Amino acid sequence: MDPRYRIADTREILTPALVVFRELVQANLEQMISIAGRAARLRPHCKTHKIPQITRMELAGGIAKHKCATFAEAEMLAQCGVGDILLSYNLVGPNIARAVEFLRKYPQSGLMVQADHGEPISALGAAMHAAGLSIGVLLDLDVGQHRTGVPVGPQARALYQMLATTPGIRAGGLHVYDGHQHQKSREERAAAVNREWQPVVAFRDALIAEGWPVPRVVCGGTGSFPIYAEKTDPAIELSPGTCVFHDAGYTEHFPDLVFTPAAVLLTRVISRPASDRVTLDLGYKAVASDPPAGKRLVFPDLPDAEQVLQNEEHLVLRTQRAGEFQPGDELYALPWHICPSTALHQQVYVISEGKVVDRWDVVARDRRLTI
Ligand SMILES: Cc1ncc(COP(=O)(O)O)c(C=O)c1O
Repeated sequence: MDPRYRIADTREILTPALVVFRELVQANLEQMISIAGRAARLRPHCKTHKIPQITRMELAGGIAKHKCATFAEAEMLAQCGVGDILLSYNLVGPNIARAVEFLRKYPQSGLMVQADHGEPISALGAAMHAAGLSIGVLLDLDVGQHRTGVPVGPQARALYQMLATTPGIRAGGLHVYDGHQHQKSREERAAAVNREWQPVVAFRDALIAEGWPVPRVVCGGTGSFPIYAEKTDPAIELSPGTCVFHDAGYTEHFPDLVFTPAAVLLTRVISRPASDRVTLDLGYKAVASDPPAGKRLVFPDLPDAEQVLQNEEHLVLRTQRAGEFQPGDELYALPWHICPSTALHQQVYVISEGKVVDRWDVVARDRRLTI
């Protein structure tokens, strides 16, 4: 077993469990800050952990700016005392009124949001103005992922003008997320990121020349933030998420990044239904099922294991070593995709120096805290 994941006494751990290794999280945070150059350049995304104690570790490391995707995450951040929150999601429907309620309840949170369409901008501006409030809104630019955002061009310019002139709204800058850049080669990834960056800078400079403020450009995720970090543009804010926990998927995708999976799943054998099969208590209610079946986990101590069947609470492995296992035996597994896996667990066990020292609630897994 990898000594970094050794736990002296596992008897109190209910499986399947997500166990978080505190020193590894700390090391990942320090690595993230070191790549950024300074904590002040970072705006990490909390969707990966959704945990107040980890937010506080980030705050203790000097990271003051934070990013999230849901109001529950934003509320978790505000309750930790974060004073600069970007809710990086397009607000529609009841979320417009929620933004007003949020700013009333957490006036120190500095809540900002993003938009890519005129109607929500008008609705948000009207709601804020009527409440005697204003909110920073970033224009979401589509640099190739084609998930949300508008491409650089006249439509983007018109929307930015709207952000700069609508009562109740403050133009907050640009949002540039590029989750499509998954090139394994660092050189190829850097070339792709740099290609998408040129028009963004030209666009930003043109907006400023028109007299509109562009205070920040929020860029990148785990794979691309090291490339943006090499640029000296003072408006850049780096927004990785996954690397705080890291996972097997990103270890495979981004071999140049030295982060260590810090949140792993502990599972127990519940049956050995055939001479070449071991069944674990690790169904897809405990690990993200967005990777295809058979690829959701990596078992470092059982490299020949094939994941042949997964149900809600069962995972069947085929392995030549099945005969070595008895019911109750433990294995640890690295999730391929940690962020949605975390959200499946109400609590995580916290390991420090090989011992279970705490349990932390995954507070922001809920869709609503109070607002
Ligand atoms: C808008 C946005 N920003 C930042 C991130 C963080 O990226 P990563 O998980 O690659 O670190 C994500 C991830 O989904 C995202 O959607």
